[in-house]
Amino acid sequence: MDIPVRFKLNGVDETLTVRPTDRLLDVLRDRLGLTSPKYGCGKGECGACTVLMDGLSVRSCLKLAVEADGAEIVTLEGFQKRGDTWIQDIYARHNAFQCGFCAPGFIMSTEELLRRHPEPDEEEIREALAGNLCRCTGYQNILAAVSEMVTTLKTGDTV
Ligand code: FES
Ligand code: FES
Repeated sequence: MDIPVRFKLNGVDETLTVRPTDRLLDVLRDRLGLTSPKYGCGKGECGACTVLMDGLSVRSCLKLAVEADGAEIVTLEGFQKRGDTWIQDIYARHNAFQCGFCAPGFIMSTEELLRRHPEPDEEEIREALAGNLCRCTGYQNILAAVSEMVTTLKTGDTV
């Protein structure tokens, strides 16, 4: 039985029908053509599929599409569409990623962290990003990039 769902995706109203067991990740990628949320582990352990739902970072592989009904969902494409790329730009300046597979997930988790807590210390940054795994890097450049983001926020120079 198909179920109608409506949500706002990157500022655009979407209406579609889904099966009760459809995962949000699959609907975003396969039905709505978004490629930034990645399928990594499929069981909530790697963070590659992270998106924002009503401002909170969620693992879209663990969310059913029906749970998105009425929600506002933002992916990396949404930031790019509105030219809000300062987090991405600082990560890039620090060469924080290599293959880039994990990058969208890190960016979404970082966005949530900095909005919730604009002046985290290193321990808090590590804790906030602990659910995002990167198989390529040693995390040092990621931490350095987020530290620069914190400084950037303090100086009000994000755009
Ligand atoms: S694919 Fe969702 S947490 Fe790994
Ligand atoms: S840069 Fe390759 S998984 Fe993170």
